[in-house]
Amino acid sequence: MRVGVLTGGGDCPGLNAVIRGIVRKGVQEYGYDFTGFRDGWRGPLEGDTVRLDIPAVRGILPRGGTILGSSRTNPLKIEGGARRVQENLAAEGIDALIAIGGEDTLGVAATLHQEHGVKVVGVPKTIDNDLSATDYTFGFDTAVNIATEAIDRLHTTAESHMRVLVVEVMGRHAGWIALHSGLAGGANVILIPEQRFDLDQVCAWVESRFKIRYAPIVVVAEGAMPRDGDMVLKDGTLDSFGHVRLSGVGEWLANQIEKRTGKEARTTVLGHVQRGGTPSAFDRWLATRFGLHAVEAVRDGDFGKMVALRSTDIVRVPIGDATSRIKTVDPSLYAEAGVFFG
Ligand code: F6P
Repeated sequence: MRVGVLTGGGDCPGLNAVIRGIVRKGVQEYGYDFTGFRDGWRGPLEGDTVRLDIPAVRGILPRGGTILGSSRTNPLKIEGGARRVQENLAAEGIDALIAIGGEDTLGVAATLHQEHGVKVVGVPKTIDNDLSATDYTFGFDTAVNIATEAIDRLHTTAESHMRVLVVEVMGRHAGWIALHSGLAGGANVILIPEQRFDLDQVCAWVESRFKIRYAPIVVVAEGAMPRDGDMVLKDGTLDSFGHVRLSGVGEWLANQIEKRTGKEARTTVLGHVQRGGTPSAFDRWLATRFGLHAVEAVRDGDFGKMVALRSTDIVRVPIGDATSRIKTVDPSLYAEAGVFFG
C-alpha cells in the first residue's frame, strides 16, 4: 500500500507532528510506503513529490511549519485540474491520500472523493479553530498561548504609560483566538466577528477602566466589525494572489478610541507570529493522535472521512460535516466573557 500525504492552506503549528504520526504508525505497524506531495494540492496537480519515510520525519515533532510545504492551490478551480490530480496519483502508484488542511483543502478532498472516487482521508487543521465537527483543531492552543503571552506583556507597558493598548489577533470569520486569549490574558474588551461592536460602548468600557486607574487592553479579532455600517472598514480586499486581506481593524480602532476618549492608544498586530514556531504540548498531542487515527482510517478503507476530536476521543466524521459550515463562537460563550469588560 502506498499512501500520499499533503498539507494545504495556511500553515499551523502541529502539521509536522501529524506527518510524523502518520509515517511512524503506517511504516511500523502496517508496512505502508508513503509519498509526500509538495505545497498542498499543487503537489498532486503537478506531480511534485518528496521522499517521506522514517528518516524524513525524525526530529520534526517540535518544529513549526510543514516539511511538505503548503499552498492555497485549488485544483477544482483549474481547467482539467481534477483529472490531472487523478492521473498524477495513479502515476505515483498512490492507493490512498491523507489531506491535512482547513475548510478549503478539505472541501477539495470531499469533492474529489464524492465526484471522482479519490480515496482520501482528511485531517483538520487551523489556528482559527473554526472547523465544525471537531471540538478543537491543532494550532489553536499554540496561537492562544502566543496571544496570551503578548497580552500579559502589554498590560505592564499599558499601565506604565496609562495608555489603551489594542491587540489585533487572527480570526477572519470566528473569534475563538480573541475570546480565549482575551479571557486568559485578562483583557478589558474582547471584540469578535460574530457580533458587531458598538464604538460608543467600547469607549465607555475604556473610560471606566481609566476611572479605577487601570489601563485597558482591547483584544480585537481581525474580522470584527463595528455596528455602524458607514465605518471605513471593508470586508476585505483581494491581493494580487487572490487572497483576502483585511483592512486593519486594530489600527482603526485605536485611532477612534484616541479621538473619542482623548486617551493615548497604540496597536499591536500579532499577525503571523501566531502561526509560526514550535507547537504547544496540547497541539503536539492532538496532532499526533490525528495522524495515528488517519492511518487507521486508511487501513479500514474508511474514505471520505475526517478524524475529529470529541471530548478526549478521536472519531471519524464525513469530511463534508466539517466543511459545510464554519464553527463560530456561541453567543452565550461571548456573553459569559462580558462580566470582565470595562
Ligand atoms: O486561516 C488561518 C488564518 O491564519 C486566518 O486567521 C488569517 O486571516 C489567514 O489565515 C491569513 O493567511 P495568509 O496570510 O497566509 O493568507
